[in-house]
Amino acid sequence: MEKSNLPIIEIKNLSFSYNRNKILEDINLKVYERDFFAVIGANGGGKSTLLKLILGLIPIQSGAIKIFGENLNRRNLHKVGYVPQNTNINTEFPIKVIEVVLMGHIGTKRPLFGYAKDEIRCAMGALAQVGMDKFADKRIGELSGGQRQRVMIARALCANPKILILDEPTASIDIEGQRRIYSLLKELNRSITVIVVSHDISVILEYANKIVHINKKLIFHNLSDKDRDRLDRAGHFCEVELFKIFNIIGSFSNSLIKKIFNNILNKNITIITNIT
Ligand SMILES: Nc1ncnc2c1ncn2[C@@H]1O[C@H](COP(=O)(O)OP(=O)(O)OP(=O)(O)O)[C@@H](O)[C@H]1O
Ligand SMILES: [Mg+2]
Repeated sequence: MEKSNLPIIEIKNLSFSYNRNKILEDINLKVYERDFFAVIGANGGGKSTLLKLILGLIPIQSGAIKIFGENLNRRNLHKVGYVPQNTNINTEFPIKVIEVVLMGHIGTKRPLFGYAKDEIRCAMGALAQVGMDKFADKRIGELSGGQRQRVMIARALCANPKILILDEPTASIDIEGQRRIYSLLKELNRSITVIVVSHDISVILEYANKIVHINKKLIFHNLSDKDRDRLDRAGHFCEVELFKIFNIIGSFSNSLIKKIFNNILNKNITIITNIT
C-alpha cells in the first residue's frame, strides 16, 4: 500500500484549559499514515485531554485539528477507533464478549432489536483479528485483564477505522500481556495508523516509530541522520536529552537508558518532546 505524504492528523497551535487551568499549550503535531505513535508523559500532563480533543469529545478552544485534511466532523471521526483509558466494564454484568464488540458499531446500539447478520460477522472478524474469536460466547467477567483489553480493541476495530487511538491499553497488564497487545497493534499498524498512550516506555519503544512527550507543552525533536552521525561519534548528545525525558517520568538506571537509546538508534525512531 502506498503511503500518502499528507498528514492524516494535523494539530496547529492547540491550547486547552479546564476552568482557566491551562492543560495544553500551543501543541503542534503531524501524524502520517501508518505512523505508530507513542504518547508518553507524567500523570496529569494532558495526554488523555489531547486524545479527547482529537476525537471531538471535548470542544476545541483555540487552535485547530484536522483529520484527513478536514476539521473534525462526523465523516472523518467515523474513521477513528478509540479505546479509552480505564474502560470500566462492569465485570459482574452478564454480557458476552461478542455483545461488547457489537457495541462498537456506531449508531447501532440496539440490542433489544438484535443485530444484523453482517454486523455479527464483522464483530466475529474483529475478534478473530485480536485472537479472541474462541471467547465470543464467554462472559466478559470471565476474561483476564489482557484478554479484556483485546476485546476492547476488537470493539474499536468493528467500525473499520483508519486510525486507532488507545489510551493506556496495557495499564495493569503484565509484561507478557503488554507485548501481546503491542504486537497486535504492530500487526494492525500494517494498515491502520496507531496512536497509543503508554507509561511502559521500555516496551513501547520496541514498537513505536515516533514518540511524543506531553507535559502541557510539546516541542518537536527529530533525530535526523545528522544527529545520528553525531551520536555515532560522540555518543552523548541525545543520551542527555533522553535522560531528561526519562527522568521526568521516573527514575531509570543508566543501563536501561542506554538500552532504550540503542533501540532508538537502531529503529530510526523520532523523538518529539517538550524538553526545554
Ligand atoms: N473534566 C475535567 N475537569 C477539570 N479538570 C480536568 C478534567 N479532566 C482532566 N482534568 C485535569 O487536566 C489535567 C490533565 O489530565 P489528563 O487526563 O489529560 O492527564 P493525563 O496525561 O492523561 O494523565 P494520566 O497519565 O494520569 O492518565 C489534570 O490535571 C486533570 O486533573
Ligand atoms: Mg490519561
